[in-house]
Amino acid sequence: MISRWTVVADRGDLTKTEVLHDELPAASDLSDCEVLLKVSRVGLTANNVTYGVIGDLIGYWRFFPAGGDDQGVVPVWGFADVVESTVDALAPGTRVYGYLPMASHVVVRPKLTSSGFVDTADHRADLPAVYNSYLVTSQDPAYDAALEDLQVLYRPLFLTSFLLADQLTDNAFHGARTVVISSASSKTAFGTAQCLKNAGVRVVGLTSPRNVAFTEGLGLYDTVLPYNASVDVEPSVYLDFSGSADVRSALHDRLGDDLKKDISIGLTHQAPSQDQRSEFFFAPDQLRKRTADWGADGLAQRFGEAWRGFTAQAGGWVSVVRHTGPEELIDVWQAVLAGETNPDSADVITF
Ligand SMILES: NC(=O)c1ccc[n+]([C@@H]2O[C@H](COP(=O)([O-])OP(=O)(O)OC[C@H]3O[C@@H](n4cnc5c(N)ncnc54)[C@H](OP(=O)(O)O)[C@@H]3O)[C@@H](O)[C@H]2O)c1
Repeated sequence: MISRWTVVADRGDLTKTEVLHDELPAASDLSDCEVLLKVSRVGLTANNVTYGVIGDLIGYWRFFPAGGDDQGVVPVWGFADVVESTVDALAPGTRVYGYLPMASHVVVRPKLTSSGFVDTADHRADLPAVYNSYLVTSQDPAYDAALEDLQVLYRPLFLTSFLLADQLTDNAFHGARTVVISSASSKTAFGTAQCLKNAGVRVVGLTSPRNVAFTEGLGLYDTVLPYNASVDVEPSVYLDFSGSADVRSALHDRLGDDLKKDISIGLTHQAPSQDQRSEFFFAPDQLRKRTADWGADGLAQRFGEAWRGFTAQAGGWVSVVRHTGPEELIDVWQAVLAGETNPDSADVITF
């Protein structure tokens, strides 16, 4: 029996993980239009932890069902190879990039697109489309085999950075001159700072005291402050990647009416809290808007340009640490979950 493995986490306690083994589907087990992918290389950052923290709210647990009722598979972004296929255009050996399970293999039901395919599996039908699209590397103009590590780590995050910066520019920064960003050492946050570099606003990063030096060293923020320091009182927008209720309240108290907009993007502190004063930024919404405004090609061209500018610098900011297999994947998961990782290194796992 050829087996596949799947890492599941307890939905109520993300520290509890288990490696499940079952039989790998054979070619004869695939239905018409199904393809078996072997997962090859993925990244793991605080963003994946957030998928688990708000898994029920957004539906993240529903992408890759496995395990018991109280368990789920945390999605990751990365590359996979077609190993069995009933679709002529996706022959064995085809390499794809997209949303993948913490598992050695996954079966998808592709509907071909100009750049790859969409997984039309029933259980994914009503989940946000951006997560169901896969790029075939040979059809992706932005693909560079030498940049696979950067792609699995940053591409999903940088798309959010790009769209968030774009939305702010589109709205003339809501009348603000300063953008204050929490969890400034996170990749999505500093990607946003990079996109805002020449936008004519002052960018202030808030971070943990231990991460101030790293964040300053990026050279992307005009000012970097530890969480307990006070920002200048001036018309500002707040981009919240931390989800910290304390940081939010301190900013509202200090800035008052000068806080022109408060936007929630992330939850690195893993404590979801609803606050009427903040608006949730959901990247797929802005993606839909810009696809309508610019067309899919116009968006791809603009994003591609920004992505190339980002990757040209990103390799120097954060070093990549490689890991292999399910046990090391779990070790990385536990470290990222516990906030024990340092922002100057990032984890890539090959399966
Ligand atoms: N809405 C969207 O569409 C969208 C898209 C992409 C990402 N995001 C969100 O953006 C956030 C950042 O994701 P990322 O992958 O870029 O993160 P990352 O690079 O892995 O960020 C690491 C940083 O997060 C903070 N952190 C991590 N674990 C922590 C813990 N256990 N306790 C306290 N702080 C912790 C620390 O920053 P500080 O010391 O600077 O606080 C740390 O340096 C996530 O919440 C992610 O879900 C949202």
